[in-house]
Formats: sequence, structure tokens, C-alpha cells
Amino acid sequence: MEDFKPGLEGIIATDTNVSFLDVDQEEIVIRGYDLIELADKKTFPEVAYLVINGKLPNNKEIQDFEKILLDDSAFPEEAYKVLELCPDSSMLMDVIRTGISFLAGYHSESDLMNTNEKSNFTKGIRLIADVAVLTANSHRILNGLTPVRPDSSKSFSENFITMITGKTPSDKEVEIFDKILTCYIEHEMPNSTFAARIIGSTLSDIYGAFVGAIASLKGPLHGGANEAAMHMLLDIKSKGGHKIADDYVMNRLNNKERIMGFGHRVYMKKYDPRAFFLKDYIAELAPNIPDGEELHKIYKIVEEVMAREKGLYPNTDYPIALLFYLLEIPIPLYTPIFFASRTAGLVAHVIEQHNNNRLFRPRVLYTGPRGLKL
Ligand SMILES: CC(C)(COP(=O)(O)OP(=O)(O)OC[C@H]1O[C@@H](n2cnc3c(N)ncnc32)[C@H](O)[C@@H]1OP(=O)(O)O)[C@@H](O)C(=O)NCCC(=O)NCCS
Repeated sequence: MEDFKPGLEGIIATDTNVSFLDVDQEEIVIRGYDLIELADKKTFPEVAYLVINGKLPNNKEIQDFEKILLDDSAFPEEAYKVLELCPDSSMLMDVIRTGISFLAGYHSESDLMNTNEKSNFTKGIRLIADVAVLTANSHRILNGLTPVRPDSSKSFSENFITMITGKTPSDKEVEIFDKILTCYIEHEMPNSTFAARIIGSTLSDIYGAFVGAIASLKGPLHGGANEAAMHMLLDIKSKGGHKIADDYVMNRLNNKERIMGFGHRVYMKKYDPRAFFLKDYIAELAPNIPDGEELHKIYKIVEEVMAREKGLYPNTDYPIALLFYLLEIPIPLYTPIFFASRTAGLVAHVIEQHNNNRLFRPRVLYTGPRGLKL
């Protein structure tokens, strides 16, 4: 029982050749490459291809791959109706989760339950494409806007951000959005990836694994932190701006409240390399909106106070929250976009789980009564 670690902290759950967080070297290893170098030099579809296939694509391979990612002919019209049927009060993550469940029904039972690599690969690529469409359009439909179909003349990221905002983004905005997607693409064994692998380990299908993963990623201790971080920055702005930012954080810490976007189970006392890489883009986008510079000032003060008081540094959700805001992306979409980019990593993990499966079935440390008589 000395093996018991609450939250499975530090426990090795599986072997994998998809990715690894090397905390000592401060490197996120993706199929042998450094994620930050990939985010700097490659596009989201190129890295998605790498994550799933284990190698970078050549020109022909990436063209074919992007074609599938932007082909909406397989996205059924009825799926929009399902989104419309969701109550207006629905959270977007729940609408997308419902959409994923619905789309599973378009596969025959034998195709859906086929866990071989080729079948998972084909279904997985469709899921990456479909989740982007579900993400943008669940928001549009819930807000009374007409759905936007993908435009295959655009790049994946340009198309995705255009479907979300309905505006034509600048090249710089597309570039930064693409880097954010790439930073979110894969991250070893977070709760949502573990959830997907646990579900996959029963030989359940990739759609079911995605449904479990999106439910996990919704939580504020996981993907939900980016939205919470942005609400906090806006709260500080509305209560007095950067001048009160130090006191604001101190108050919350004194009340034992968490500051969202800081800390991490694996990095905990170190700077998340993705956050370090992305933070420099904030200055480039800050002039985009009237309160951008003020929010950036608040951002920096909160970061200083957390380092000074708790020795805690931003995780990737902190800069991404502000970058999304500066890209004029509505806050309820922050966590769904995180999930949409993580789909590539999930496909790779479900394939790996199914290729070398062992059912997850741990034991417990029982603390209840024994011997009760009826
Ligand atoms: C991510 C997170 C859940 C990891 O937590 P964990 O591994 O379970 O670590 P613990 O909750 O045991 O925290 C360890 C210590 O750091 C403190 N801490 C961790 N994150 C904190 C935060 N964001 N704000 C304030 N204090 C924090 C805890 O209060 C605790 O302090 P204590 O030892 O004095 O009680 C946690 O850092 C957190 O809640 N962060 C905010 C949510 C977030 O940004 N999530 C996105 C993760 S990518």
C-alpha cells in the first residue's frame, strides 16, 4: 500500500513513444522533437501529422492531410440541427461533446468498433476536422448566428479562426493562432489523455474516448483554466486596473484561493516552456484592442506576484487566455479550442493504446467498514 499516491502523482501509467515532459531539461519531447522548436518552425497540421504518424510529412503528405482536415463533405447537415437542439444555456464543451457522440452514429458498428491502426487513423483525422467545425459552429449556433462551413482554399488555422470570429484575420493573427494550437497539441499524460486511454483500453471506440476526454478537459483544474484566467484579468481591470493587481492577487492568496493559469502537476515550480515561448507574442497583439496594453500590464504584475509570493509560474493557459482575448475570440471558446487542438494528441494515444492494449484496472485502498450484518 506504500505504492498508493493520491491523484496517481508521479506514477507511470503507461509506456508511450508519443511525447514526454522532460522537466529537468525543460523540454516537451514530441516524437523526438522539441515542441517549442516545432511551434516556432512548423504549422499545426505538420505537427499534427507528426504526432499521429511519428514522422514529419513531405510536401505531398501534408497537402493530402490538410485536404482531409478542410474537407467538410463528410460533415453531415443533421449535425448542425443537433447543435441547434441544445438548450441556449448549454456550455459549449457539452454541445461539442454531444456533437462528437452524434457523429459516431455515421459509422457502421463494425467500422466504429474496429480498433486497428488504419481504421483509427481514418476516424481520427475526421475527428480533428469535425471537432474544429463543431467548436466554431456550436458557438455560432448558440448565439443565433448561421453556421460557417470550412473553406478549403484557406490553411487549417486561417479557416478555423475565420469560422470562429467571422472576420478575415491578418497573417500575424493566423500565425499566432497556429502557434497556440501547436502548443496545445500534445502534452504527455494529462487527465484528459489518460481518460481517453482508459476508455480505449476496454477496446471501446475512438469517439467514446474523445467524449470522455472532452468531459475531463472541461474541468477548471485542467482545460478550463484559460477561461478562468481571462475572467480574472478582466476582473482586475474592472476593479481598478494594474494599480490594484498586486493587492488583488494578495487578497486571493490570503483567502487560500487559486490563481488560475499558474502551477502545474508536473512543472509546479518551473516555467511551462509553452508559456515562456508564447508570452512574447502578447506585446505584438496588445495594440489590437483598446484595453490590450492595460491587460498586458495587469498580466505582468500577476505573474510577478505569483513568483514572489508562491514561487509559481504561468502554465500555458495564462498567456493563451490573453492571446485569445487579443485575437477577439469569445471567452467561452477558449477551452473548446484547447480541446480542438488536443484532438491530434488524442488520436495518437488511442492508436497507441489499441495497438498494444492492456486494460486499465487499478485497485483501491479500502477505508470503509467491514463485517456489517443485515
Ligand atoms: C494545476 C494544479 C491543479 C496542480 O495542482 P497539484 O499538483 O494538485 O498541486 P497542489 O494542489 O497540491 O498544490 C501545491 C501547492 O501549490 C499551491 N498552488 C498550486 N497552484 C496554485 C495556484 N494556481 N494558485 C495558488 N496556489 C497554488 C497550492 O495551494 C499548494 O500550496 P500549499 O502546499 O501551501 O497548500 C494547480 O497548480 C492549480 O490548481 N492550478 C490552477 C489551475 C490551472 O491553471 N490549471 C491548468 C493546468 S495546465
